[in-house]
Amino acid sequence: MSALDKLIQPMQLNDIQALVAADMEGVNAHIRAQLHSDVALIEQMGEYIVNSGGKRLRPVLAILSARACQYEGVKHHLTAAIIEFIHTATLLHDDVVDASNLRRGKETANSIWGNEASVLVGDFIFSRSFEMMVQVGDMRVMEVLATASNTIAEGEVLQLLNCNEPDTTEQQYMEVIRCKTAKLFEAAARLGPVLANRPADIEEAMATYGMHLGTAFQLIDDMLDYRADSETMGKNVGDDLDEGKPTLPIIYALNNGNAAQVKELREVIKNGDRTKLQQVMEIILDTKALDYVQQTAFREAEIAKQSITCLPEGEYKTALSSLVEFSVSRIY
Ligand code: IPE
Ligand code: IPE
Ligand code: MG
Ligand code: MG
Repeated sequence: MSALDKLIQPMQLNDIQALVAADMEGVNAHIRAQLHSDVALIEQMGEYIVNSGGKRLRPVLAILSARACQYEGVKHHLTAAIIEFIHTATLLHDDVVDASNLRRGKETANSIWGNEASVLVGDFIFSRSFEMMVQVGDMRVMEVLATASNTIAEGEVLQLLNCNEPDTTEQQYMEVIRCKTAKLFEAAARLGPVLANRPADIEEAMATYGMHLGTAFQLIDDMLDYRADSETMGKNVGDDLDEGKPTLPIIYALNNGNAAQVKELREVIKNGDRTKLQQVMEIILDTKALDYVQQTAFREAEIAKQSITCLPEGEYKTALSSLVEFSVSRIY
């Protein structure tokens, strides 16, 4: 195999993690240091969630993006930690809103310490991320992260409005996932060129990559909610149904099911009812809704990969491309 071939061989997630291992040590040092608080419960809950085995995909993405843009400084460690803090805070809040009791194969913080503590510690981690943004000391970085945080909150509220609403359209659903999930991937991808002072076209290319990667990632997440087993996923199957969340598997089945199936699905979404999971799974299977969701994710993945053709060839570009592959073939 030639040296170039080796550079463009697809990587598995553990190859990608190995590539950024030294950088991730720097990221994790910030994460550990910034979890500190004199209030014991904050540290206890913060450490519980941060050490519970998340995939750390967003900080890995932030590192890859900086490296792929030949960034030479060390601020990417802090920005990657900020991204993971924002993610962690949203998960603490999300599990309260979704009434979830399993995440990363463990009991959720809200099921151990209660909803109040989860919301408040989520606020602590979120506001700590603002303090860290100030430490970066770069207005453009601040702008990207502030905008992303605001858009995520907007997406969560939009999603709330769609809950128990069987007439939610595919377009409305796509808008929700772009805001609540893809925007943070976009920010992580954009910050590399921002830190490295790359020209605007490279910044936009990376942002487009992140937006489509994040969209594909959430499409697969919503597919797994009806397909994976809880043990592999580390989350409960059927949480979305229980909340009456009209995700794409449901929207597609509603648009393609027969009259009886549509009637049944509409009722389940209106009521949010996990006990109907088996019947809903059968309708989803019958309408081939998960194939459609997967194809939609593959399309987003393709756009993500195409977006970064302008980057110089090398292992970081290959890793960015492989991260897309992982995101659409993952089972957890
Ligand atoms: C979970 O994200 C939240 C979604 C946007 C679907 P991840 O699947 O990246 O969560 P962890 O951090 O690896 O647990
Ligand atoms: C992602 O949505 C939530 C955030 C972006 C905070 P989900 O509700 O599908 O995430 P999981 O499945 O609970 O991880
Ligand atoms: Mg959730
Ligand atoms: Mg989910």
